[in-house]
Amino acid sequence: MAKIIYVLNGPNLNLLGKRQPEIYGAQTLDDVQAMCEAAAKPAGLRIVFRQSNAEHELIDWIHEAREAAAGIVINPAAYTHTSIAILDALNACSCPVIEVHISNIHKRESFRHHSYVSARADAVIAGCGVEGYLLALQRMVTLCANG
Ligand code: DQA
Repeated sequence: MAKIIYVLNGPNLNLLGKRQPEIYGAQTLDDVQAMCEAAAKPAGLRIVFRQSNAEHELIDWIHEAREAAAGIVINPAAYTHTSIAILDALNACSCPVIEVHISNIHKRESFRHHSYVSARADAVIAGCGVEGYLLALQRMVTLCANG
């Protein structure tokens, strides 16, 4: 049976492809979803792909993933740098968690250098563009097999 991986995306990522393409690239979030679904199938994974601009919705989905998922890939976007509540929700999950950032947050403004989520993440991928989501899924296969 395919393992379910939640791929959660935070605020403003619905504007991917339109928003600051010099930083985030030209591909849309629908493109990223399609890429993730194409990669997941042969890897024996099933993707639940979601985006929200609301912190509480992301938290509710992490709670849902706590029961339903074999792993969580999350790009918390700006909540990365502010949300202890998202960290607490992830800390309530026992499955592997991989944090993804399209841009290299360490090369950008200093307020992006700290991530609350990294205190829980089993892996962090930053600066690989949207390919980072595929790298996260590849790593998730290994983490799920070892777990
Ligand atoms: C981001 C980096 C964050 O600092 C920013 O707030 C985002 C996107 C990224 O994918 O590079 O919205 O998470």
